[in-house]
Amino acid sequence: MEKFIVKGGTPLKGEVKISGAKNAAVAILPAALLIDGVCTIDNIPNISDIRLYIDILRSFGAKVEWTGQHEITLDTRNVCASDKSLELTRKFRASYYSLGSLLGRCKMAQVGIPGGCNLGARPIDLHIKGFEALGATVDVSHGKIVATADKLVGTSIYLDIPSVGATINVMLAAVLAKGTTIIDNPAKEPHIVDVANFLNTMGADIRGAGTDVIKIHGVKKLSGGKTYSVVPDQIEAGTFMLAAVATKGDITIKNCIPEHLESVTAKIIEMGGNIDDSKGDEIRVWCNQRPSKLTIKTLPYPGFPTDLQPQIGVVLSVADGTSIINESIWESRFQYTVELNKMGAQITAQGQTAIFEGVESLYGAPVYTTDLRAGAALIIAACMAQGTTEIYNLSHIDRGYENIEDKFRALGANIERVTE
Ligand code: UD1
Repeated sequence: MEKFIVKGGTPLKGEVKISGAKNAAVAILPAALLIDGVCTIDNIPNISDIRLYIDILRSFGAKVEWTGQHEITLDTRNVCASDKSLELTRKFRASYYSLGSLLGRCKMAQVGIPGGCNLGARPIDLHIKGFEALGATVDVSHGKIVATADKLVGTSIYLDIPSVGATINVMLAAVLAKGTTIIDNPAKEPHIVDVANFLNTMGADIRGAGTDVIKIHGVKKLSGGKTYSVVPDQIEAGTFMLAAVATKGDITIKNCIPEHLESVTAKIIEMGGNIDDSKGDEIRVWCNQRPSKLTIKTLPYPGFPTDLQPQIGVVLSVADGTSIINESIWESRFQYTVELNKMGAQITAQGQTAIFEGVESLYGAPVYTTDLRAGAALIIAACMAQGTTEIYNLSHIDRGYENIEDKFRALGANIERVTE
């Protein structure tokens, strides 16, 4: 079993380069299944979720090769909805994007009912309603989801909730459908725009991604033949921004898009931190004082992202005063607070609200990562704490952060991965 040993108490200072966005890449790889041709995707993060997705794509008949450190070339001329993928697709959540793509390309798709981070109930009713509206029949039973269609025909689809997954999945299924599909109340996260840009580069006709209405004009075929570069990871950038505030450090975050992080920037300024994002593709964050208390509600983009809620929770655990976080997206995203309390934090979480009584400082303790972003939060907490922290269950962290310990070490953290 692997664990991190972190000796804390040092402000993190220096530069960090952000990788390609995990949540964009895990949608763009399956989106390539729609292409009757070859394409190259660059700025792919080398993380375990991506390696797993490559295996899934291969099980559908795609030829996938790493052609650079962060570059993948895919030949998706011969793909089919194989049941060989059921076990693999069960292993993580974003595998459900192959449903939309294969339904569009082959009119038949099946995946195992997906797993993923345990953040509470994670229904996929909106994905299914979207596929059905386009003319598919969807059966969910015996641990798998099977979608079939004679043909897919464009229509208007209203999403009750601006779900990231449902927006992308409906977009994927609609790219090769006959006529025009309109998605009302779609999610607007940067990776929605990135998936649409990728598909348009490969020959699709999608307009309005990132706004309140997305229009997809069905095309006959995606020919590919192009190279596309994945957008920088907004959540990884936000993680390092909050690490700078938590450790009273000074970090310049390179290769990021400041507009994607405005909600985080606003909260950091409110806490007394400093931001310089004038250069356009980097953000410098520094903080010389104890952060002040905050009230936060997580919301769909452009609101404060739920995927940065545990990381800002670490900052609030040592803020001056009592802070409140309302988690409006996931019903079970405060499991990390139990671990922070082992490090001396005073957090009371009930339902979708947590109250943070700010303490002067945290101390090291053995802690367990409960999900991907909770893992990133625990690394920040360990860097900020007095003494030594041992962090267990690293597989959650490796799913979504590339070389995380190297990046923290380059900023001055004393972090080591050891095998027990
Ligand atoms: C994606 C992100 C995840 C992030 C989340 C919210 C990926 C791979 N994962 O997850 O990191 O935390 O967005 O920003 O991109 N819902 C329904 N029915 C559905 C679908 C969703 O009720 O059919 C609800 C969910 O229970 C949740 C909310 O909608 O309360 C948002 O979920 P959604 O945006 O779909 O999240 P994911 O795409 O799973």
